[in-house]
Amino acid sequence: MAAPSVLQQICETPGCGTEAKLQCPTCIKLGISGSFFCSQTCFKGNWGEHKKLHKKSKSENSESNSFNPWPGFRFTGPLRPAPVTPVREVPDHIPRPDYADNTEGIPISERQFRGTTSIKVLDDEEQEGMRVACLLGREVLDVAAKMLKVGVTTEEIDKAVHEACIDRECYPSPLNYYQFPKSCCTSVNEVICHGIPDQRPLEDGDILNVDISVYHKSFHGDLNETFFVGNVDEKSKKLVKTTYECLAMAINEVKPGVRYREMGNIIQKHAQANGFSVVRSYCGHGIHQLFHTTPSVPHYAKNKAIGIMKPGHCFTIEPMISEGTWRDETWPDNWTAVTQDGKRSAQFEHTLLVTETGCEVLTRRRENDGKPHFLDQM
Ligand code: MF3
Ligand code: CO
Repeated sequence: MAAPSVLQQICETPGCGTEAKLQCPTCIKLGISGSFFCSQTCFKGNWGEHKKLHKKSKSENSESNSFNPWPGFRFTGPLRPAPVTPVREVPDHIPRPDYADNTEGIPISERQFRGTTSIKVLDDEEQEGMRVACLLGREVLDVAAKMLKVGVTTEEIDKAVHEACIDRECYPSPLNYYQFPKSCCTSVNEVICHGIPDQRPLEDGDILNVDISVYHKSFHGDLNETFFVGNVDEKSKKLVKTTYECLAMAINEVKPGVRYREMGNIIQKHAQANGFSVVRSYCGHGIHQLFHTTPSVPHYAKNKAIGIMKPGHCFTIEPMISEGTWRDETWPDNWTAVTQDGKRSAQFEHTLLVTETGCEVLTRRRENDGKPHFLDQM
């Protein structure tokens, strides 16, 4: 993923531009996020305009009985956010990554390696640490997979994921990473990645990606799969199948001596041959004691990624493939990445360890020949 910047609120008064920490109390009550002012003076000076937001939010809420935290925001597709439940705690006996305990969620250890291009070679003990973390991550994803059905909310999935992590002595890596508020990412339909679990019940025909990352004994494991909810249309099935094939074809070419930039050529060729596009804003990444580090692994063709695969490298491939445009935009929650045309997008991710002859798929499924869950449903 591309590192998101730290949240900084700017005063709502047009042209003011000052950093703002005061939030309108009525907005808080109505669940409207993102209304900040630098001072009482700016707040009062804007009241005439600002109070229209309250009115708009109230009328939209009563019309459709739907929650709208961002009045006036133009959504690209049919999906809407639902309320998000409060932050869940992780018991003290579970070791935590550095970003778990700073208010801005900044991964200080990752930041120290920003600007470097060298790729860590893991020793035997570190490789074993990655095997264990990735196996536990796989178990957690399989827990989520078992509970998916029409009517279940993504919040309920997150709760089960959170508890499954704790049961396995894992800290759920997304929690508080750059202030991400939940323990996994759940990305429905036109959401490309980084969807925040909320109270929306899954609907018949949805496609849902569940992205699990765990931190266990100093190592992160990272994987995701896209699932079918109920009866999914043929085009969505083809999208999901093609996305899985893109990942599988890239993994097949992983071995020492191969350039990281080659992955994108393989992935885009197959996506394009099926009439789909490749998301460009989010990439695969190195992973070990750091959640996101070198190498960066773009999924699109003709990229300029740096580095050559060597035994002992650990990294993810996680192609996001879209039905229409490859262009993305981010919701005002600063996380949810959606397609700019509102059409659907799918993703699969594995964590890989480069070996002497190829790679070990550390996050592989142990049942059903390692095949993804959606194939059980086809
Ligand atoms: N697999 C996802 C990624 O590498 C995990 C994101 S966790 C989040 O981007 F906290 F950054 F959302
Ligand atoms: Co990842």
